[in-house]
Amino acid sequence: MIQEILERRSIRKYQDKKITREKLEDLLKAAMLAPNSGNRQCWRFIAITNKQVLKDISVFSKQTPMLANAQAAIVILEDVSCSIGAEYCYQDAGLAAENILLEAVSLGLGGVYCALGPSLNKMTRYRDYFNLDNYLLPVCVLALGYPNESRPTPDRYDEKKITWVQ
Ligand SMILES: Cc1cc2nc3c(=O)[nH]c(=O)nc-3n(C[C@H](O)[C@H](O)[C@H](O)COP(=O)(O)O)c2cc1C
Repeated sequence: MIQEILERRSIRKYQDKKITREKLEDLLKAAMLAPNSGNRQCWRFIAITNKQVLKDISVFSKQTPMLANAQAAIVILEDVSCSIGAEYCYQDAGLAAENILLEAVSLGLGGVYCALGPSLNKMTRYRDYFNLDNYLLPVCVLALGYPNESRPTPDRYDEKKITWVQ
């Protein structure tokens, strides 16, 4: 198995060390290489390093306090007017997010995926704060930073969850 898959864990505690623009661009390049429906690339990204903005958005959901101490965040949005079908939006964004999280590990960074939907409240708060058009669907926000916690690889392999058809 590739090392980044083994090492990736949700990281919610971060060092006080900035992430360079080059590294963030690298994460965004990884995102845009993800599989996506019809190769329409309907994703959009808001890349945030502004500390005040990170603090502001940390309170938009009870599940995202780590954003206040993150060095960066990437909000992944989907343009529903571009997508073949709304149901693809979450899949496209999810795959882009996983690429970011794995690339982050390879750069020595850690991150955590936080969903913004289907809660209308959370999505609306992001829409209002960033003054987004209605056709943009905020799907998730990834908090990022150099890890200040280490978590071991769990053994989650569970035969019972597999149906083999041979
Ligand atoms: C759809 C989805 C929503 C999530 N939302 C949050 C969240 O709001 N806050 C949070 O701290 N973690 C969130 N997580 C991270 C999960 O808690 C985490 O992936 C899970 O506990 C497994 O741990 P691991 O990522 O370290 O393997 C979310 C993950 C997914 C896939």
